[in-house]
Amino acid sequence: MYTSKITGLGYFVPENIVTNDDLSKMMDTNDEWIQERTGIKERRWIEKGSGETSSSMGVKAAKIAIERSRLSKDDIDFIVFATLSPDMYFPGCGVQIQNLMDMPTIGALDIRNQCSGFVYALSVADQFIKTGMYKNILVIGAEYHSGGLDITTRGRGVSVIFGDGAGAAILSRSKKEGKGILSTHLHSEGKHAKELTVESPSIAHWVPELLKNTEDLSYFPYMNGTFVFKNAVVRFSEVILEGLQANNLSPEDIDLFIPHQANLRISQFVQKKFKLRDDQVFNNIQKYGNTTAASIIIALTEAWENGKVKDGDLVVLAAFGSGFTWGSVVIRW
Ligand code: UT7
Repeated sequence: MYTSKITGLGYFVPENIVTNDDLSKMMDTNDEWIQERTGIKERRWIEKGSGETSSSMGVKAAKIAIERSRLSKDDIDFIVFATLSPDMYFPGCGVQIQNLMDMPTIGALDIRNQCSGFVYALSVADQFIKTGMYKNILVIGAEYHSGGLDITTRGRGVSVIFGDGAGAAILSRSKKEGKGILSTHLHSEGKHAKELTVESPSIAHWVPELLKNTEDLSYFPYMNGTFVFKNAVVRFSEVILEGLQANNLSPEDIDLFIPHQANLRISQFVQKKFKLRDDQVFNNIQKYGNTTAASIIIALTEAWENGKVKDGDLVVLAAFGSGFTWGSVVIRW
């Protein structure tokens, strides 16, 4: 059995910065409310008409990750792409990457697990590496949220939170035991699917139905924020402990915890629960908002670029979101 380690990291965010004050010109909201409830100061939103998409941002992040791994695109033998905002209803973004990057006809898989998407994607890639099927896998998380948000007062409970961006990791085969990805744990609870959802268009409620009724806004994201928040803090804690216990580790052993950037208050709750110091936790939601499947990989890349991830460090990633789905990844760097 092999182990898998991260050999390259990259991220890309659009240049266009949207501050809380900018949002207050589009809807009835304000900087104080947003910062107090979420910690977010600004986010990046794709400039309308720029042609940027989840795939195109994914390509930019992937090129950086591949270069840093000292591999070439032709060394990659599988693509895993996590997003809830694909360029097309189908096919998925994985095949767009294969095409846009002019890669050999390798396999490409899309993961649809929203905020837990990158954790699920890493777990899937890890299994392929461990069994020996693939040597180098490109794992991408990317979101183009801004094109699908209700940017009026009606949608303010959701739209102020989300941002656009992409991150990529190269997962490579290694023979070093005790290093790399030590474990991944994944969960779901579909009975809460409708608490955080974009319901339409679905095959059961296709575009003509939507067009018939202008009051039908089920193509905008809906979130029962308080309910999601309450579940998030419980599931985050459970799945972090599950990952640590599976490796005979405890919270004190964590060198760096990178939570999915859903809400700074959620991250702070988890930090407090596990008595982690500020230097043991990395957050960047203040700058980018919640970028869903991209948030963990953007944060991990930024933390690594800032020298916060060192050889031998114990790095814990955890996510919770729509589905509900949640999961953790424990890495010995
Ligand atoms: O990443 C996937 C997982 N997602 C999450 O984990 C998100 C979890 N949930 C949350 O982060 C929080 O629930 C939110 C930040 C979304 C909302 O915070 P909240 O403290 O739960 O606020 P609320 O929805 O209970 O709304 C409180 C008040 C309401 O007004 P009334 O009814 O008290 O008069 C809302 O209408 O705040 C109002 N409100 C706003 N006011 C200004 C809601 N959104 C806004 C806004 N600006 N953007």
